[in-house]
Amino acid sequence: MCSVGIALESRAIALFLRLQSAVADAEAWGLIAEVNYMDSIVNQKISPCHVLAVPYPGRGHINPMLDLCSAVAQKSTDILVTVVLTEEWISFIGSVSKPPNVRFATIPNVLPSELVRGADPRGFWTAVSTKMEEPVERLLDQLRLPLAIVIADAFLIWAGDVAGRRNIPLASLWPMSASAFTVFYHFDLLVQNGHFPINISENGDEIVDYIPGLPPLLVRDLPKVMRKQEDAPRFLRLVPRAKFLIFSSIYELESQVINALKQQSPYSIYNIGPAASYHRLNHIYSNYLTSPHQENVDDYLQWLDCQPPRSVLYVSLGSFLSVSAAQMDEIAAGLHESGCRFLWVTRVEKTRLEKICGEKGLVVGWCDQLYVLCHPSQGGFWTHCGWNSTKEAVLAGMPLLTFPIVMDQAPNAKAIVEDWKMGWRVTREYDEDNLASSSMIAEIVQRFMDLESPERKELTRNARQLQEACEREFANGQSFHKEVEGFATSILENRL
Ligand SMILES: *[C@@H]1O[C@H](CO)[C@@H](O)[C@H](O)[C@H]1NC(C)=O
Ligand SMILES: *[C@@H]1O[C@H](CO)[C@@H](O)[C@H](O)[C@H]1NC(C)=O
Repeated sequence: MCSVGIALESRAIALFLRLQSAVADAEAWGLIAEVNYMDSIVNQKISPCHVLAVPYPGRGHINPMLDLCSAVAQKSTDILVTVVLTEEWISFIGSVSKPPNVRFATIPNVLPSELVRGADPRGFWTAVSTKMEEPVERLLDQLRLPLAIVIADAFLIWAGDVAGRRNIPLASLWPMSASAFTVFYHFDLLVQNGHFPINISENGDEIVDYIPGLPPLLVRDLPKVMRKQEDAPRFLRLVPRAKFLIFSSIYELESQVINALKQQSPYSIYNIGPAASYHRLNHIYSNYLTSPHQENVDDYLQWLDCQPPRSVLYVSLGSFLSVSAAQMDEIAAGLHESGCRFLWVTRVEKTRLEKICGEKGLVVGWCDQLYVLCHPSQGGFWTHCGWNSTKEAVLAGMPLLTFPIVMDQAPNAKAIVEDWKMGWRVTREYDEDNLASSSMIAEIVQRFMDLESPERKELTRNARQLQEACEREFANGQSFHKEVEGFATSILENRL
């Protein structure tokens, strides 16, 4: 088999940047230093409508925020967006190309390094909740141009206070599905119906069928963060005191929920889908995949090129260390036993897992997920059902094996399996006291990768249909453009 590049991990960032630049639509992107930009503004005596964007400094949050800012900036050159990034994120994406009216401002890291973020998401959340507000305030004090609006990730629970104290309208960017939002938003209904507090052995199998627009689901499929009664204040604080609520959802997937919220909530709601991923996808299909890879590509791409069409299962449990070593071992042994080809991306225990995985599996520390999902060798995706991965899989039309672990992943898995019918469950949820066994994993992986079986053919068909429906959303004149236009107009109305 093709061998694994030892330096893969360290080259990850370089590749990430290279790909990001490669992606950029030539018409829209360009780099102009802030100073030049400000000078040109002074010369022209226009005062731009200034927007401050504050993403949560974590993977899965930054890209949707940049997507949103770029889309809005491209709608009107009167808008100037200042995106606040921590030093760490500046080092990752500081040189990425972006519209000339989007610029970056830097604040110190909340914690020393990314390693900490991956290993201890809860600790990182606490640091972001307590240590980031002050440097953002200081930055606000220094801004010369007055602000029309602040756009903040909903996970930045202090953003409402910051904007409120300065009397600036707040737009909150919701990083998960609209369905997860509406569950938090209708928390009172859960309480009234005896579905909170959650006790799985008592009410886990009861049906939640009273949340406007949301297809019925079991209590056990509610976001896992709701399991602990004492966490209620924490997730309720996520429901922001904002004027605008922005989703980064694919409208086709959650139109009923979004429509219900637009009618019933006090927010002005805009859904700005994953446009950059969509454009990137088209770019991948039209450019990269048509010609065979030359020299200088990463080893995993060469390996993928060597595999038969639709024969490889892509496996990713997300970027956090979230399951036990024992569970990782069972997965590795199960994949090996299945006899199927697979590409497993994991930040942890790569070397040890490689040994268990054997000949047919390639284990890498990083890969370009969207590219992999589009590669002709791919036959399926084993996913932890993070919202970002879920959207990428839908856009790529890839059938899924679901293995939800934390947060909002259980409701995403439920939607994938029961509503969209484009995947099967490996397990309903990861349970560290009751591991998914290697033999069970081998069995389901084998069945799933048998592309000719009628049940699997149905999954493929459904995934394709959904993909086509999503494509229509981004085609000219469809919902994405209308929503961006609407939000940009609202921003300009707030201009001072
Ligand atoms: C989604 O997550 C994958 C894997 O972590 C990453 O490669 C990709 O850049 C992310 N995409 C977005 C749009 O955040
Ligand atoms: C959950 O319900 C079970 C069965 O009724 C009970 O034994 C257990 O104490 C409950 N757990 C909590 C945390 O209330």
